[in-house]
Amino acid sequence: MAESGFEKVAETSELSPGEMKSVQLSQEELCLANVDGNFYAIENSCSHMGGPLASGELDGEQVECPLHGAIFNVVTGEVQNPPARDGVQAREVRISGNDILVGPPKP
Ligand code: FES
Repeated sequence: MAESGFEKVAETSELSPGEMKSVQLSQEELCLANVDGNFYAIENSCSHMGGPLASGELDGEQVECPLHGAIFNVVTGEVQNPPARDGVQAREVRISGNDILVGPPKP
């Protein structure tokens, strides 16, 4: 079912708008987010000290780390507020029927 390079990580019904959850893709843990019905995936580990981003707060496209409050854009992975200085990797996401598929890193 999965398109080449894309793997199912969850179903769309598992995540309401404004919600996040951590999902496993091979060896990697990702933070999956539903922003107004669009799904995005970034690394779950904060670039500051590894805080679990999916346990933080989602406000629009902004994810706030639960440990020290760094903010990342969930679409691009860019850091928008310290103490983190570096962004996190964002992944391509596709929807196939009810399946959420995550693929390679965004360029
Ligand atoms: S671990 Fe995320 S802000 Fe410190």
